[in-house]
Amino acid sequence: MRILIAVDGPQRVFVTREIPESSLRRLAEGLPGARIDVHRGSDRLAPEALAQAARGATALVCTLADRIDAALLAALAPPLRVVATFAVGYENIDLDAARRLGVRVANTPGVLTDATAEVAVALALACARRIAEGDRIVRAGRFAGWSPLAHRGNAVYGSTVGIVGAGRIGFRVAATLRRGFDCEILVHSRTARPEWQRELGARFVPLAELVERSDIISLHCPLTRETHHLIDARALARMKRSAVLVNTARGAIVDEAALVAALRSGATAAAGLDVYEDEPRLAPGLAEQDNAVLLPHIGSATHAARDAMGRLCAEAVIAELSGRAAPNRLV
Ligand code: DGY
Repeated sequence: MRILIAVDGPQRVFVTREIPESSLRRLAEGLPGARIDVHRGSDRLAPEALAQAARGATALVCTLADRIDAALLAALAPPLRVVATFAVGYENIDLDAARRLGVRVANTPGVLTDATAEVAVALALACARRIAEGDRIVRAGRFAGWSPLAHRGNAVYGSTVGIVGAGRIGFRVAATLRRGFDCEILVHSRTARPEWQRELGARFVPLAELVERSDIISLHCPLTRETHHLIDARALARMKRSAVLVNTARGAIVDEAALVAALRSGATAAAGLDVYEDEPRLAPGLAEQDNAVLLPHIGSATHAARDAMGRLCAEAVIAELSGRAAPNRLV
């Protein structure tokens, strides 16, 4: 039997950052009469300011930069009923506390797979072929003409690629490099997934083997207690000296200080990073490494992906405030 519960009482949605207007329009249309407040500042709200601004909200649309911890949830619920995060990763949200307090949480998986995979592949190519470094040379007037020995990198074609994390984004990166660049695919994950073997000829291997054998290592696992600093000084020391490390997942999966040391000493040939341990700050010395390609967390930054992420957040809020389960409900 389906039970329909009408949107009851005054609804207030607080959105912690500007999101695509189409999602705000969808919220207004799906929750007639609701008050929708958006923090339009260019910086994220500090925790106390967020608690203050979101007081009285029945729904919160947040981003990965907001810390939705037990204290904040307890301060807001009730009346808070749902948190929709404008991200697929949700390590910033205390799901246990949300469960305890009866607050529903939803995220935005699926719609940013292609966008993020593109950035991972772009970083792998940029690092292996020293693209960003070349751009800097030309702009600085240091291009002295073609030379047989200048600026050599490593081929991506036919190389061995190690994917850490067997989710959607990792699969798309592996498929692109397998089908487009004839790469051999190694994968490390807690769960073996048959389609990796069937469609890509990938081999599931222990992390140590992946790290030792790969020419390109691309990280696609969530940040958890188990994956925090998964790539530490020991793992970096096991990598080939010619290897490239790509991280479009979460900064803290890599020990950034250890990575700076490995890039500086040449123990790791190059790193392509879209995410950082303490965003937006960088580990000391990282910005000075010519063999690092550094992006400002743009994995999902296509118009299509960001619109779709906003739409999923709006649908989650509308559903939960209307007594239905959000399509991507986590708790
Ligand atoms: C996510 O969704 O977790 C991404 O990091 C945001 O682009």
